[in-house]
Amino acid sequence: MNRFVVRSVKQCLVNGRSYYGISTGGGAAYGSALVGRSVELSGQRNGGVAFGGFEWRRMMSSAPASSEKAPLERKEKETVAEDSKGKDVVASSYWGISRPTITREDGTVWPWNCFMPWETYKADVSIDVKKHHVPQNFMDKLAYRTVKFLRVPMDMFFQRRYGCHAMMLETIAAVPGMVGGMLLHLKSLRKFQHSGGWIKALLEEAENERMHLMTMVELVQPKWYERLLVLAAQGVYFNAFFLVYVTSPKLAHRFVGYLEEEAIISYTEYLEAIESGEVKNVPAPAIAIDYWRLPKDATLKDVITVIRADEAHHRDVNHFASDIQFQGKELREAPAPLGYH
Ligand SMILES: [Fe+2]
Ligand SMILES: [Fe+2]
Repeated sequence: MNRFVVRSVKQCLVNGRSYYGISTGGGAAYGSALVGRSVELSGQRNGGVAFGGFEWRRMMSSAPASSEKAPLERKEKETVAEDSKGKDVVASSYWGISRPTITREDGTVWPWNCFMPWETYKADVSIDVKKHHVPQNFMDKLAYRTVKFLRVPMDMFFQRRYGCHAMMLETIAAVPGMVGGMLLHLKSLRKFQHSGGWIKALLEEAENERMHLMTMVELVQPKWYERLLVLAAQGVYFNAFFLVYVTSPKLAHRFVGYLEEEAIISYTEYLEAIESGEVKNVPAPAIAIDYWRLPKDATLKDVITVIRADEAHHRDVNHFASDIQFQGKELREAPAPLGYH
């Protein structure tokens, strides 16, 4: 057992992308396909001839979508040809499970499995990124001081490595929504109560943060000691946040609200570095273009701008959640801000 754990940690550090379970260099297409279905961008499913062709290489690439279009289309054609010969049918057909063909509005095949077109959105970048919740009581001050204190070693460690800093931040930021959502889920089961949409809202936040991470990892390759740091930080942070949420959800949400305020500050510094030329304004990763429905010629600056807007929304959601509980109410008594981006 111990040997298994050690081997897993070693694999994680050496080959951080093993979670995809595929080689990054081959560019092989994942051809599935079985039942003829196609899905339009709206999410409606229509009958039709079907195949499943996904370009894994593009998913792993940080190049913009436009530059990858030609090989992607070529690979899709190859996959269709293979499927038409009936050579590429996978065994899962026994279970009646198949990945329908999903297309973008322009008719090109949707290349992602990790999120679907109907989960994408245009970020509301008009949100006030300077809004701050002034600590009003002991609990607020405790949350605020703790976040400020935690920022010090992070700043010392990363200094002006904005990309690395952001990436590490996202590995932490994606934890609270999952812990809060999970605990509310269990509470709903225990008490036979609705959650007011808060389970879904918090899980949405966790997923959104994870997509930030999936985007950042396209731009920055973490070093082995940074992966080790993530392992250690997750082990400590998950358990600590779990205990805080069980003990005092209002403190937990206030803490996350302040954490998001710090994330906004970090992304603002990142943007300033891009604007000053300190950080090169490279093309946006393909995953970001699809997830935030950005133009094909979008750049890193556009990506950081939408991520910062997301953080501002998370800030509002968590301070709101804390305020509800400070008023002596339960979260389920106030409708959750579902789909609030
Ligand atoms: Fe984030
Ligand atoms: Fe966030």
